[in-house]
Amino acid sequence: MFAFLSTITWWGWILIILFLVAIRDIFLQKAHTISHNYPIVGHFRYILEKIGPELRQYLVANNREELPFNRIERGWIYASAKKENNYEGFGTDRDIYAHQHIFINNAMMPFKPSENHPNEIDKTFLPCAKVMGLHNKRKKPFRPASVINVSAMSFGSLSAKAVESLNKGVKMADAYHNAGEGGLSPYHSYGGDVVFHFGTGYFGVRNEDGTFSLDKLVKLVEENPFIRAIEVKLSQGAKPGKGGVLPASKITKEIAEIRHVELGKDVISPPNHSAFSNVPEMVDFIEKIAEATGLPVGIKAAIGKLEQWEELANIMQKTGKGPDFITVDGGEGGTGAAPPSFADHVSLPWVYGFSDLYKLFQRKGLTERIVFIGSGKLGFPAKAAMAFSMGADCINVAREAMMSIGCIQAQVCHTNRCPSGVATQSKWLQGGIDPTLKSARLAQYFKTFRKEFIEITHAAGYEHPCQFKMSDIEINVDDHNLSKELDKTYRYEKTPVPFNNMQDLKDCIYLGGNK
Ligand SMILES: Cc1cc2nc3c(=O)[nH]c(=O)nc-3n(C[C@H](O)[C@H](O)[C@H](O)COP(=O)(O)O)c2cc1C
Repeated sequence: MFAFLSTITWWGWILIILFLVAIRDIFLQKAHTISHNYPIVGHFRYILEKIGPELRQYLVANNREELPFNRIERGWIYASAKKENNYEGFGTDRDIYAHQHIFINNAMMPFKPSENHPNEIDKTFLPCAKVMGLHNKRKKPFRPASVINVSAMSFGSLSAKAVESLNKGVKMADAYHNAGEGGLSPYHSYGGDVVFHFGTGYFGVRNEDGTFSLDKLVKLVEENPFIRAIEVKLSQGAKPGKGGVLPASKITKEIAEIRHVELGKDVISPPNHSAFSNVPEMVDFIEKIAEATGLPVGIKAAIGKLEQWEELANIMQKTGKGPDFITVDGGEGGTGAAPPSFADHVSLPWVYGFSDLYKLFQRKGLTERIVFIGSGKLGFPAKAAMAFSMGADCINVAREAMMSIGCIQAQVCHTNRCPSGVATQSKWLQGGIDPTLKSARLAQYFKTFRKEFIEITHAAGYEHPCQFKMSDIEINVDDHNLSKELDKTYRYEKTPVPFNNMQDLKDCIYLGGNK
């Protein structure tokens, strides 16, 4: 038998294998019609379909073609994070006449910082112009020391090494780290400012029956003084109103301990909160948490209908109570996993949602007491200038932060097979992440972002981006009226943010970061 087999040549073996594959395709499998009808060659279709995204990303797509982030955007983040040359040569390759393109109106002469100006000492110093919780007289108000910060992403959707890199990175960059809804893990605890965030699952602050535990939250805040604010998640842009299931298979012993859930059982995050069921109850809930912890409390949501927001604004106007900050997430926002029907269609894109909400709060005279945070592909200085001109006070970034620590936009966060080790629980895949190196990359991305944002601000004649007005930014609207200022397009002018000078922000007793 062996003597016979050894007489078969290598191409003979290939023919035998192909023959067996053809037998399997035609007679033994029923799942794939294409393989049945086109045995052997039908497999190429499945292979090409699988590697198509990679082929397009590396070989076919042009610089500005891909979504969510095109090659130029990704390249800018990678180069900024590595402190490499992030310039482009020969002028823009963008169609600057295209619909929705934005322009920042530069001043005839830029703003000139004085000799001892904080930005002459540190070109990346750019804290938030507003203080969270000051208006509502919370015991521990907080001025974020950076206008760009890490958005909610939990340990569980991100790997331990990725969360560690982000936390160490925000510490170096004086930014804050929103913990995401998976509870506070040891990887969030390297000393960077943390915004503790929870959703309907109340992970890390829940009773055994899944209801919210104020006692646990108070204890958590007392034991972890680096928690500077609390964010209650109502919804996120990629899947508003959609609950979630954390499958038992993904719950490790460590995750079960951090989230306060049982091992071996699926955990449901329902679409609704059990701690409140209407807007007045939500305001009471916020006040109760702020009173018990002393921290500023905010809400995060994607925007669609406005009736309940109007109700919230009325209550805030009447009672003087309510959230200290509101994070508006755009429909273009990212997620670890969401059905495309939700990610593509439910909730408004950031500019539409934010402008609707801001106008509503402005009509009620409430904008000055709220810190507005924006998220949804805003981690680029020009996009941030647009957001600030519309009323945003801070930017949160999720996927941009992931890219700065090595994410390659493989778009497989939901499979646990993230090739860069950022969004996976596989020990092998995250083994390649060196948190010391990656934390420095996140910090450098934030610093480069702030430096360029300050330079754009100075070019427009201002000292701080909070001074941007809607009329400073123009947007291409259509062929007949090629560009329109933002105030004419979205029909409001933002309320001026009280701002004296950068030195006042530097001297503020509530300033976060390392000071
Ligand atoms: C992997 C991943 C996990 C996320 N987890 C949460 C979460 O736990 N809670 C939440 O409110 N948003 C979550 N988000 C949404 C982000 O916080 C952010 O709002 C959104 O991605 C928009 O920001 P970006 O465009 O900078 O990514 C997650 C996003 C990603 C990519």
